[in-house]
Amino acid sequence: MQSKGFVDLRSDTVTLPTEEMLEAMRHAELGDDVFREDPTVNRLEEMAAERMGKEAALLVTSGTQANLVSLMSNTRRGELVILEAESHMYWYEVGGLSAIAGLLPWLVRSSFGALDPRAVEAAIRPRNIHFPEPNLVCVENTHNRHGGTVITPKQLQAVGEVAEAHGLRFYMDGARVFNAAVALKVDVKELARHADSLMFCLSKGLSCPVGSVVVGTRDFVDRARRVRKVLGGGMRQAGVIAAAGIVALEKMVDRLGEDHVNARRLAEGIAKLKGIAVDIERVQTNMVIFDISGLGVADDVFLSRLREKGVCALTIAPNRVRLVTHRGIEKEHVAKAVAAIADVADELGRV
Ligand SMILES: Cc1ncc(COP(=O)(O)O)c(C=O)c1O
Repeated sequence: MQSKGFVDLRSDTVTLPTEEMLEAMRHAELGDDVFREDPTVNRLEEMAAERMGKEAALLVTSGTQANLVSLMSNTRRGELVILEAESHMYWYEVGGLSAIAGLLPWLVRSSFGALDPRAVEAAIRPRNIHFPEPNLVCVENTHNRHGGTVITPKQLQAVGEVAEAHGLRFYMDGARVFNAAVALKVDVKELARHADSLMFCLSKGLSCPVGSVVVGTRDFVDRARRVRKVLGGGMRQAGVIAAAGIVALEKMVDRLGEDHVNARRLAEGIAKLKGIAVDIERVQTNMVIFDISGLGVADDVFLSRLREKGVCALTIAPNRVRLVTHRGIEKEHVAKAVAAIADVADELGRV
């Protein structure tokens, strides 16, 4: 949509690869990755492991596959997994955690996406013949449905300690963990070190066309490689994907800060509008969620009016609209989006 002149704020997944990525893909040295013979994939996996301070890494096709592979490599069927109630794994991954991994999700609510360690502890029921075995605690960082909120190293550490004390593993859906690291101005290792395993996405703010990476101990990644294969994710000349991933890790991380600045500009611009409410405290990275209940119109009416003015957005719940900034969204696009939202709010507010 962006190439058709729209300001596309539906997601950071709409980013297109950079010229440098396309060049790297064109010239990538390739081999059969199922035989572990693709040098470009091997290099990306080594870089990712090193970057996260873990032993090994595995390139997978998507964030959803990364989460499913990680769940299945961390658990056995019939076990219980503790998740934040708004987590992507629970909401948006087609129920794969139950349908394919055979797990029982046990939800813990939070107000900003960070699990309260006491709530996690309370969710870990004693081992008893009536209960499924709890085996895994998951966090999401940044937290999508909470508005791109950041989970700090201290918060991660506290949950990790509870998990460890009870013999549970600790996994992080770090689809946007680099956004968290940039927002917190910490090395991403400071976030990764508290989780036994994690994943991050190449195809969101980092602008790659495809791919996510699962990271953890060598044993865990060996298991994950087999699970990826059973899920049909064993790729062959996957170096064409990995080549873009290498450019992303080398060149695209620091610029995420620009997306955060633009998200804040966007939030501050629309917070002033009548009929719209933005919780500015949640605008910590590249997302803005705002409430349009004050306008008293159906979501699809709001979204289609906005689209007529050249701005694309999504709703994540009734009356809750989400905007995501990313490469390609500049200050002038933010201004255009704010003006379009102001016009639509004004027009609909008068109906
Ligand atoms: C937090 C989080 N985890 C996982 C995913 C899944 O990624 P994918 O769309 O690549 O399957 C997303 C996608 O938006 C996400 O926001």
